Amino acid sequence: MEIIISALVVGGISAVLAAVLTVADALVNNYGEVNITVNESKSYKVKGGSTLLSTLAGEKIFIPSACGGKGSCGLCKVKVLSDIGPILPTELPYLSPKEKKDNIRLSCQVKVKSDVSIEIPEELFNIREYLSTVSSIEDVTHDIKELFFDFEEEIRFKAGQYVQLIVPGYGDIKGETMRAYSMSSQPSVKDGVELLVRLVPNGIVTTYVHKMLRVGDKIRILGPFGDFFLRETDSDIIFIAGGSGMAPIRSIVLDMMEKGVERNAYYFFGARSKRDLFYLEEMKEIESKMPNFHFIPALSDPLPEDGWEGEVGLITDVVDRYLAEQGDEASREGYLCGSPGMINACISVLKKHNVPEEKIYYDKFG
Ligand SMILES: Cc1cc2nc3c(=O)[nH]c(=O)nc-3n(C[C@H](O)[C@H](O)[C@H](O)COP(=O)(O)OP(=O)(O)OC[C@H]3O[C@@H](n4cnc5c(N)ncnc54)[C@H](O)[C@@H]3O)c2cc1C
Ligand code: FES
Repeated sequence: MEIIISALVVGGISAVLAAVLTVADALVNNYGEVNITVNESKSYKVKGGSTLLSTLAGEKIFIPSACGGKGSCGLCKVKVLSDIGPILPTELPYLSPKEKKDNIRLSCQVKVKSDVSIEIPEELFNIREYLSTVSSIEDVTHDIKELFFDFEEEIRFKAGQYVQLIVPGYGDIKGETMRAYSMSSQPSVKDGVELLVRLVPNGIVTTYVHKMLRVGDKIRILGPFGDFFLRETDSDIIFIAGGSGMAPIRSIVLDMMEKGVERNAYYFFGARSKRDLFYLEEMKEIESKMPNFHFIPALSDPLPEDGWEGEVGLITDVVDRYLAEQGDEASREGYLCGSPGMINACISVLKKHNVPEEKIYYDKFG
């Protein structure tokens, strides 16, 4: 108990000190106008003093982010070509030795205080901000809502990618908050995006979406982001998802169906009990249209009243059983989506069945 209290006190003091230093920095230092050079070809005159992430966003260059700049997702990496000072302690957990050597930095942590030159993938210039109108909100389970956001202009994305939803401040939450959500609609739907949002207790954005967002509301959305999409190979596909991890896999499966992709695909969907299952009818219908697609829902804790006759057990055990029965001769690829714990456990199972680590793709929702 004492250890926890000490940790909280130290954490609290650090947070206060960080806030004081930020305010002092802003008051004492006026960095004036500085130049950001991007990919050695484009140059932007900006006001110095803010983070690289928000400064670039001000110029409509949107770097991937799932945590909205809190330093907790590690997605906002950019290669910095000029000297912007040593790597900060808050960046260290997210940078591999190679990334450190290559001057990769977390753009939400480093500040633009003088001229800086950076390198980013060209496709990031295609990321746009869309003003959307919420056109439908449906409960698909007790804690997951399916929402459709109408866009005023068309969006182009790859099945499996995600967008960032920006919600306004409410209650004690000052200012906007941004979080990542994968498209559950397929790319042929261009007039907006469908998202599946699971309520996280006390979560800022999910509480807003579940309790405050209404049909007709206007919401800003950035995207598309991410490299979780189907690779064009002949390998068998192992999809594994839990909860709202359904979203990107559904988008990929619908896209495969529309494009007539006939690869063998096994989709393992893990849930606790029947009330956590959804889209069963739709998946059955897809199975009937795609002979090589197999949907395998599994319940870890079915209730007696569920009358469940399908697979029972942790999704890892179910996948393990299926792959063992099939034998490990086939070339396979894994596409995983859900909580970090589930994904880590599934990676071990796939590796056990000879799926090479570099052929396992995932988005960790957490
Ligand atoms: C690529 C990607 C795609 C994703 N796609 C989806 C998707 O399709 N559907 C989906 O539902 N989710 C998705 N997520 C997860 C999503 O981005 C959010 O992380 C999630 O919805 C929670 O957001 P929130 O703002 O409600 O919670 P947050 O406010 O971020 O809180 C998360 C948890 O942390 C706790 N917490 C917050 N602040 C603190 C603190 N200071 N101290 C201690 N605890 C704290 C909260 O109580 C809560 O339990 C995706 C994530 C990624 C990275
Ligand atoms: S935006 Fe999440 S770590 Fe930088």
